[in-house]
Amino acid sequence: MLSWDEFDQEDTAVAAKQPAAEKPQPQVAQAALEKLDNAGDAAAHDAREVDSQDSDAVARAKAALNDLDIEEGLTELEGEGSRVTVDAKRMINCRADLNQLVPFKYDWAWQKYLDGCANHWMPQEVNMNADIALWKSKDGLTEDERRIVKRNLGFFSTADSLVANNLALAVYRLITNPECRQYILRQAFEEAIHTHAYQYCIESLGMDEGEIFNMYHEIPSVAKKAAWGLKYTRAISDPEFDTGTVETDKELLRNLIAYYCVLEGVFFYCGFTQILSMGRRNKMTGVAEQFQYILRDESMHLNFGIDVINQIKIENPHLWDAAMKDEATQMILQGTQLEIEYARDTMPRGVLGMNAAMMEDYLKFIANRRLTQIGLKEEYPGTSNPFPWMSEIMDLKKEKNFFETRVIEYQTGGALSWD
Ligand SMILES: [Fe+2]
Ligand SMILES: [Fe+2]
Repeated sequence: MLSWDEFDQEDTAVAAKQPAAEKPQPQVAQAALEKLDNAGDAAAHDAREVDSQDSDAVARAKAALNDLDIEEGLTELEGEGSRVTVDAKRMINCRADLNQLVPFKYDWAWQKYLDGCANHWMPQEVNMNADIALWKSKDGLTEDERRIVKRNLGFFSTADSLVANNLALAVYRLITNPECRQYILRQAFEEAIHTHAYQYCIESLGMDEGEIFNMYHEIPSVAKKAAWGLKYTRAISDPEFDTGTVETDKELLRNLIAYYCVLEGVFFYCGFTQILSMGRRNKMTGVAEQFQYILRDESMHLNFGIDVINQIKIENPHLWDAAMKDEATQMILQGTQLEIEYARDTMPRGVLGMNAAMMEDYLKFIANRRLTQIGLKEEYPGTSNPFPWMSEIMDLKKEKNFFETRVIEYQTGGALSWD
């Protein structure tokens, strides 16, 4: 391990090599350096001088910097160059400098970033031995239970990649707020951990990787969900796409509703419920624990997305007109219908104390919640939650979004239990 003593020694050694004299005259573009309006200007000037000890490569590197146009570089940074005020910050189409994290406007976004970091976990921390033994034993699981494990690893292994790609290749660029971008970067890493977790389960259980990773091509109930999500990322992941008109702002809003409210807010819930139900019955406890960690992350992704959508509505009320409300409602209802079809495909018979009809009720309960979270009316009145234990696992009491209440507390990785 390095110590500060070693750093000191290295510094001394380097300094000793540098002769005090014989410095050739620098070929410095003085005009460029004068733009550095700070006390370090003179020191920077000295550092740029070509030393007799410099190799040709080092001398050329120093000389090349003489051509650096600082003004030109700074104008390429996103936003205007002046100091940012809270009032200038906006969720979309912001003109202020996006490289200045503070002052915060959306404290909830920064808090979610901190909460996400406090929840850090890795798939290898979960013991998979019992799962491997159960999966390989002939009578350990019924065919229906095996179908559930395979279908869900198949769906999720692709779905988390779709979410990550949408974030990194489309959403990040278009959300013009640095504290939200900070959370999006955290979320993108969590999606990578989730894909890693599915791969880790698939590898640990010795599954046919080709079969599992290709389900979104080959199994209709999985393919339909993936295709539905992809439809909403197509326009905004075009590098030429930009917000700034009513139509393009609405396109981004559609994407956020599709990915946060439907993909992460509806499409994950049948699978999560099935796998966590296995864990509660002491089957595939390692896979279930992985899913439990993932669900905890996903609850936060969902609530972050809902906060972003609601904030965009507040700042741009003209976008949230009757047509957009109807479209948003339709998107959530379509997603719910696809998830009901997925439930039927994955549970042709009753299994693990649940069946497709109960799952349908649960999904309608979830859909009502997604609708009301973004200010729309419930479309399945009178639906109740047949799986109250799911709310306990997700700890819905704590994981509310900002517009309901603040996040209160989280456990750190490794502290989860089935109680
Ligand atoms: Fe995920
Ligand atoms: Fe997610």
